[in-house]
Amino acid sequence: MVYSPIELYDIVIFGAKGDLVRRKLIPALYNLESKQHIHENTRIIAVGRAKWSSREYCDMILKNLITFLSKKIDYSIFNKFKSRFVFCNLDVSDHAKFFYLKDIIKKKNSRCIYYLAMPHYTFSNVCLGLKKFNLNDCNSRVVVEKPIGISLETSKLINNVLGTYFRENQIFRIDHYLGKETVLNLLSFRFANLFIYNNWNKSAIDSVQVTLSEEIGLEGRVDFFNSTGQTRDMVQSHLLQLLTLITMSKPYAVNADIIRDEKVKILKSLKPITKNNVKDNIVLGQYHSGFINKKPVKSYLNDLGNDNIVSDTETFIAIKVEVDNEQWNGVPFYIRTGKRLLKKCSEIIVNFKNDSNNIFNKILSSRSSNQLIITLQPNEGLKINIFNRKPGVYDSNNLVTNSLNFSYKKSNETFLNDYERLFLEVIRGNQSLFVRRDEVELAWNWIDSMMYAWKDVNMKPILYQSGTWGPDNSDLLLNKDGRYWYNN
Ligand SMILES: NC(=O)c1ccc[n+]([C@@H]2O[C@H](COP(=O)([O-])OP(=O)(O)OC[C@H]3O[C@@H](n4cnc5c(N)ncnc54)[C@H](OP(=O)(O)O)[C@@H]3O)[C@@H](O)[C@H]2O)c1
Repeated sequence: MVYSPIELYDIVIFGAKGDLVRRKLIPALYNLESKQHIHENTRIIAVGRAKWSSREYCDMILKNLITFLSKKIDYSIFNKFKSRFVFCNLDVSDHAKFFYLKDIIKKKNSRCIYYLAMPHYTFSNVCLGLKKFNLNDCNSRVVVEKPIGISLETSKLINNVLGTYFRENQIFRIDHYLGKETVLNLLSFRFANLFIYNNWNKSAIDSVQVTLSEEIGLEGRVDFFNSTGQTRDMVQSHLLQLLTLITMSKPYAVNADIIRDEKVKILKSLKPITKNNVKDNIVLGQYHSGFINKKPVKSYLNDLGNDNIVSDTETFIAIKVEVDNEQWNGVPFYIRTGKRLLKKCSEIIVNFKNDSNNIFNKILSSRSSNQLIITLQPNEGLKINIFNRKPGVYDSNNLVTNSLNFSYKKSNETFLNDYERLFLEVIRGNQSLFVRRDEVELAWNWIDSMMYAWKDVNMKPILYQSGTWGPDNSDLLLNKDGRYWYNN
């Protein structure tokens, strides 16, 4: 399906030589080209410090597409794609040089999407440069990546900079999880199916688990990660965003601000983790050496440089979160994320309660309850485990668990990956898949107070062997409530 009409914007990418652009943005734009989702006349203006011509930049693009595209390049598409590119040599700290960018933009007098694929400390320079040449007019849009800061205070500084030069409805803060098909489907699944909608509350749901696990370690991001940690990198953004989508109330309309208003209510309802309850509600870990896919891997400290370095940075965190509102109070949400875990996966598990009055009580009480398993990656899809009578000549009470399965791969629908989807929504001006300023700041507020609490009580990460599901204490977090992690 081609969206119609496709709006005409020029896409200006700052940080054109960077990792994000090469690995994610260029392949996503190429895929959108191949699916005819980019306006015929859209130009892609790549801004960087390298002294490249547009042609040299296109050579670089081709090399990166060969490396990062998961399919063969179609050269008839690539030729159209590369004809869109203009390279603009610019160091953003030199505001006068934005004249060159203005010159390119004004040639076609186009509306612009500015994608800031740059470190946050460069944002004020970009904004000042754009302002100097009136390039931040109300028709323009600006896209920034998570993480927005590393604390409430730093996120406010970044948001203040952006807010000085752009209105909130021009700012698109990316959390790429919000572009994943299964995440998009969360609201449809919850609110379009009455049998789910009616049971999506504390009366029917026992507990929820969310796991975002990685096999990788630092992958060269040594300084960034050691000063950030897994909590700031993954929980503040992806995990809390998922939690809001799982728990938010039905918005009265499918509209960006109305949806985000509901998410904000959840962020305000998160029970604070304080120094009085932090030890009961979180487990921190740091990976030790071990094996991933049978290959030996080093410890975190070794990945940092050597084993004599001291670092309390957590590479794993499990948290028991409670949403303190009428719909959810008393339901635990167990969330965990870590590096060098047994396998890479992103999953939401919803455990339903057993009906204590059901006529199969003896049999059911010895079995697990109904489960909904939503897989965000790999193999996007969802599965519901239900009980059925075992066919044949057995006792009529003999039950088996079967699964109702839906897999996106098998559905044959046009499938956009997260960055393709998000680009498309920026072009369409749909902000519902982007994070509003108040969401970012409320999430940081909750994270900051949890981190202060664990520092206050001097909690340190526990070592866990690489290639496992994290420290044993993570299991205890659930076991003490009579529950277990779902480790597929
Ligand atoms: N990489 C990812 O997968 C990923 C994922 C999520 C979020 N992010 C976020 O996305 C942003 C970019 O990340 P990245 O990994 O792509 O970083 P990166 O590889 O370090 O690239 C940053 C780019 O910014 C350019 N740059 C820096 N200062 C500049 C200046 N004064 N003028 C012009 N260009 C300048 C650099 O140019 P030079 O090449 O000339 O140095 C480089 O090309 C960051 O905010 C990051 O947190 C990245």
